[in-house]
Order: sequence, then C-alpha cells, then structure tokens
Amino acid sequence: MNRTQVAIVGAGPAGLTLGQLLHRAGIETVILERRGREYVEARVRAGVLEHDVADLFEQAGVGERMRREGLVHGGVELQAAGERHRIAFDELTGKSIVVYGQTEIVKDLIAARLESGAPIHFDVDGVALHGLDTDRPHLEYDESGGRHELGADLVAGCDGFHGVSRSSIPQGVLREFARDYPYGWLGILASVAPSSEELIYAHHERGFALLSMRSPELSRLYLQCAPDEDVSAWSDERVWTELQTRLGLDGWTLHEGAILEKGVTPMRSHVVEPMQWGRLYLAGDAAHIVPPTGAKGLNLAVRDVHVLADAIVAWYASGDPTLLDAYSETCLRRVWRAEHFSWWMTTMLHRRPDGEEFDLRLQLSQLRYLRTSRVAATALAENYVGIERV
Ligand code: APR
Ligand code: PHB
Repeated sequence: MNRTQVAIVGAGPAGLTLGQLLHRAGIETVILERRGREYVEARVRAGVLEHDVADLFEQAGVGERMRREGLVHGGVELQAAGERHRIAFDELTGKSIVVYGQTEIVKDLIAARLESGAPIHFDVDGVALHGLDTDRPHLEYDESGGRHELGADLVAGCDGFHGVSRSSIPQGVLREFARDYPYGWLGILASVAPSSEELIYAHHERGFALLSMRSPELSRLYLQCAPDEDVSAWSDERVWTELQTRLGLDGWTLHEGAILEKGVTPMRSHVVEPMQWGRLYLAGDAAHIVPPTGAKGLNLAVRDVHVLADAIVAWYASGDPTLLDAYSETCLRRVWRAEHFSWWMTTMLHRRPDGEEFDLRLQLSQLRYLRTSRVAATALAENYVGIERV
C-alpha cells in the first residue's frame, strides 16, 4: 500500500490550500479529487477574499497573480429605500478586501501543486475512508480502471458539502445545525465592465440584488429568486430588466453585456460539530455552509485549513497533539461568527416571500441604522473584512 503523511480528499479551495501549506512545511500529502482538472478550474463560485486570507495566499506563495489582477476594495455600497450608502471598510477597520475569483485562486493553487511535483489525482471515483478511529487510517479509490489503497497518518476531509468524508463518521457522533431560507440567488457572469467600482448590496421591494465583479471586464450579478427557480424561465432580457429595476438609482447607469453564465445558487446555513473524528479532520464546506450574502464560504474554508496546517506542523515537529485536539473548537468559533454574520446579512437584505410587513420594517430600520451610526457600520465592516480574533 502507498503511504503519505496527510491524505486530502477534495481539490476545492480547502484541499488545495491545505496541500500548499503542508508542502511548504515539508509535509507529504496526496490529494484525491473526484472531478477533472478542467471542471474544477471552471466552476464559477465565490469571489471575495478577506484581508488576512489574501495575505495568507501571498505568504503561501500563491499570491502573485492575485496581487496583480485582484481588485482591492476599501468598502461596499448598501442600497435601500432609493439611497446608496458606502460602508468604508478601510476607514472603519484599516482593512480592505480583494475581489479575485475562486476559479482564479483554484487555478493558481493547482499550478503551484503541479509545479511542486506533489501528487494530485483528478478523476478518481469511489473514495472510501477506513480506520479513521485507529492511528493507521487508509483510503481506497478507483483510478484508471483499478482499485488503489493509500495509507496516511491523518485524513483531511475537504470534499465539500456532498463529499464522502462527513458521511464516513458513524451516526450519532456529529450534531447538525441547519437553517433553510425561502430564497435562492440567480447569478450571472456578464461580459461587461462593472458599473460600480465597488460591490452594491441592494434591498428592494421586488427582492435583493447584488452587483459584483470578477475583473475590469467581467461583471457578476445576482437576483433573489425562489430556491427552486427554473433558470430557463429567465431570458437574458428578463434578467437585465429585473437587475435594472432592483439596482436602479437616479443618475446611475447599469451597463448590460453578453451573459456568459447563468445559474441558481441555493441558500442554506449548516454546521456540524465537532469538525473532527479520530484521525479525520473536516474543513470547508464539508463541515459548514453559509448563505452567500457576505461572501464568507471561501474565506472560512481557507481559515479552517490554515488552523489545521499549523496544528499538523506542530504535531509532526514535537508530537504534541494540543493544537490538533483543539482544531474543531478553534475553527467553530470563527464558523459561528460567520454563520451569524451571513444569516444576519441575508435576513436584512432579502424580501420575504410572504411579504411580512413587520420584518420589512425591521430591515429598513436596521439599514437606516447602518447609514447613520458609525458603530453599526463598523460592526458590519469588521465582520466583512474578517475578524482577527474570534
Ligand atoms: N471524492 C473526491 N473528491 C470529492 C468527493 C469525493 N467523494 N466529493 C466531492 N469532492 C470534491 C469536489 O469535486 C470539489 O472539487 O471536493 C471538492 C470540494 O470543493 P468545494 O465544494 O469548493 O469546497 P471547499 O474546498 O470546502 O471550498 C468552499 O467553495 O463551494 C464553495 O462557496 C463555497 O466558497 C466556498 C468554498
Ligand atoms: C460574488 O462576487 O460572487 C459575491 C460577492 C459578494 C457576496 C457573494 C458573492 O456576498
């Protein structure tokens, strides 16, 4: 049986970043990914990096293109009741965010992995985890028509919400916490220069809308829709008309362009506790999901594996398991902060389908408070750019 030090299941941002951090620390890893490289690199997902997450990519040796092409934003715009108001992250917290697509960071991480020569297997099927409650866990997987075995000291479950890792933990070990929302997001990628320098989060009686971007030539926009919305009911023209209505403001123009991609994103909050069982450590979407409002998903995934990498390095260096044993608790503090922030942003900005007027009044009051109180704005800003100590 082949052996490695840390077996990593999944080559999303969590698995790839963990592989990179451990490689730089001289620890051997093998990454097993179910999909092909092209698929993983093309998946359009998140696009906002917290200040410290951008720094981490740089320290991990994969920040060069991000620093060149990423767009540094010192704030975001909140729009409600026909007014737009800037939350100035830089002024309120001294920090900013970097708009850089998850697809791009994934490409940079894969390039770094391939260049390092460290093993990464794409298109593997039937990954199965064994012996997780022993000190010699091993994995089985199918590749090129054969079944293979891989022994490891530790296993990192970075295989997303639908992965195999979390479900390899026996029933009754994990506690699940979840919240479903009665909305989804219809997202488009459009070949047009962003109509605003910074992101616009818009509260509107017809539902939430978000203007975001990927580059000076590519806009990313979202519309609140039903969770089971049928994308085929949304012609390009209908999408633009709705975006014009919800984002529109006197004296400002939303520029339209060719739509390159269109899809519906579900909205869900989900956490499992603990994020570890035996020699298996869950990270990223495998352990927790946040609704996209507030852009925390990718950042949480990267923060998890940062904590995990430091703990693994300490364990190999001294045999001391203290940091590894604290992994779940350490991560969950940040996870729950982000769960609250994402839930709060979601609840404040989306129009309830039942049109409940009490909630609408609360939303408008909260949005006004953010416009008029520096303290309220600072709380939003601090959460958005990423809290240092949680
Ligand atoms: N075996 C091997 N790989 C698997 C398996 C499996 N059984 N199941 C899933 N995978 C792979 C997926 O194909 C994917 O490439 O694991 C990877 C998980 O990646 P993500 O879903 O991107 O999760 P994560 O790395 O935790 O990153 C979270 O990505 O989903 C977004 O919005 C989310 O920004 C957040 C971030
Ligand atoms: C995105 O650009 O995809 C994005 C930005 C901000 C969010 C969510 C998604 O809150």
